[in-house]
Amino acid sequence: MASVTSLSDSVHQRLAAALSAALPQAGSADPLLRRSDRADFQANGILALAKKEKANPRELATQVVSRVESGELLQDVEVSGPGFLNITITDRAITENLAARYADDTGRLGVPTAEHPGVTVVDYAQPNVAKEMHVGHLRSAVIGDSVTRLLEFTGESVVRRHHIGDWGTQFGMLIQYLDEHPHELDHESAEVSGEEAMSNLDRLYKAARKVFDSDEEFKTRARRRVVDLQAGDPQTLAMWQKFVDESKIYFFSVFEKLDMEVRDPDIVGESGYNDMLAETCRLLEESGVAVRSEGALCVFFDDVKGPDGKPVPLIVQKSDGGYGYAATDLSAIRDRVFNLKANTLLYVVDARQSLHFRMVFETARRAGWLNEDVHAVQLAFGTVLGKDGKPFKTREGETVRLVDLLDEAIDRASAVVREKAQDLSEEEIAERGAQVGIGAVKYADLSTSANRDYKFDLDQMVSLNGDTSVYLQYAYARIRSILRKAGETRPAAHPELELHAAERALGLHVDSFGATVAEAAAEYAPHKMTAYLYQLASLYTTFYDKCPVLKAESPEQVENRLFLCDVTARTLHQGMALLGIRTPERL
Ligand code: ARG
Repeated sequence: MASVTSLSDSVHQRLAAALSAALPQAGSADPLLRRSDRADFQANGILALAKKEKANPRELATQVVSRVESGELLQDVEVSGPGFLNITITDRAITENLAARYADDTGRLGVPTAEHPGVTVVDYAQPNVAKEMHVGHLRSAVIGDSVTRLLEFTGESVVRRHHIGDWGTQFGMLIQYLDEHPHELDHESAEVSGEEAMSNLDRLYKAARKVFDSDEEFKTRARRRVVDLQAGDPQTLAMWQKFVDESKIYFFSVFEKLDMEVRDPDIVGESGYNDMLAETCRLLEESGVAVRSEGALCVFFDDVKGPDGKPVPLIVQKSDGGYGYAATDLSAIRDRVFNLKANTLLYVVDARQSLHFRMVFETARRAGWLNEDVHAVQLAFGTVLGKDGKPFKTREGETVRLVDLLDEAIDRASAVVREKAQDLSEEEIAERGAQVGIGAVKYADLSTSANRDYKFDLDQMVSLNGDTSVYLQYAYARIRSILRKAGETRPAAHPELELHAAERALGLHVDSFGATVAEAAAEYAPHKMTAYLYQLASLYTTFYDKCPVLKAESPEQVENRLFLCDVTARTLHQGMALLGIRTPERL
């Protein structure tokens, strides 16, 4: 399907052409176009340009107006103020543009892909083995999933990496305990639920911890296990694998609840880089990027100091020879750059790990693994707070289990759906409840810019009014219901009709969908998409208030308005899909 040039791009081209005709010495100057309330667009670029070229801005603006080619596109271009241009598009151009988008059956609404897409590795949704998932893991999963979808929509090749915490000294304790209590992870039936898997792991973890803290000899045996594990002892590895497998049952159940696809081959945890660790250290030491200090292999930074003023190094290898989180992340960078051939490495990780990543990235830069062509970015997200504004905890002060939270969201949403439901069966209420509840949680997370902390407030999240996914889902369902009422045929556009101001505003906003995707993807900012969609639904509501659809004056008018409804619905649907949120046909 051919892609559609947006109206703002078309206007931009014409103004830029007129500008360079009026002022050849300015070369290809930017007219600086933006949406405006007074007209459809306003161009502000002439002022600065006139100043630079020592010309009179109003005169230059008048020159541009006289040279601009209006064609079927421009209704009116007028000079305003000290040298702005107010630009109005023809109704015909708006309808024809939307009709071309509507004709694109791929769901892309005529949005082109990027000219030079690259390869991005996205590191997100990385829980830890044998541990309960919490709200921090939720944020990484939700934001990472949306950013991945946005990037793919622009044509980027995305490789997903779920860097789970599946390695480290705690496994010595767990494995030793399992070795001494061999039936603790046995299952009575073949089918184990995620819930059961987690409770098995939790029980085992607590029991192992208890012995570890009270029994010195066990502690010694556990420590020996760590050495065996790192040396690749087969029996130890086989037991370690049991923990990983049991945890995956749990992880997958949570991701399924989150309505999120996580594929097993994309789960490459810390252990996946085991074979590279020694080499990573050797490369860093030989190049002088890392130095031995008190037996440990360290990288130092001028600007990273502890409270005592002493430099705090990144420790790549501990003095006992053990490798930690930094060695794994540095090895992962080598893998992603040299094997996966990435241009961009994106890490969707809690802001509290920012210092770690700053040091890791700088080390990789010094080693030459990262450079101008290959760069790494942490998409750092803030903390999830409770309603009281403090880090989210249960009343007992414990970390809130993610599953409990999701279940509660689904319950609340089901209550909302049930209350509004007219002709929905119990089964449908349950299905919609899940889609609305999970959508609400995702939307609340995505609609605040990632680096900010946000309050987890279920009442607000499932509210029908305001900037929530529920509001958008209802807007979508309402449009679909109008279209059903009108019959199944695909409404045709009528470019000859005059448009109401509310139709124009809606149409121009639909046209800017592609620009929004491009911006949200380039800036890793899903909240730009949520803001766009919220405004889309608001503009639709105004349109619907002002312009009768099924009772419009003429059959052509009815059809054209139905077409506007449909193209809006498709845009809403696609936008929500890029956030990982469902849009049920009926609510
Ligand atoms: N598993 C870690 C955690 O739960 C997050 C991993 C982030 N990714 C990375 N490459 N270090 O905090």
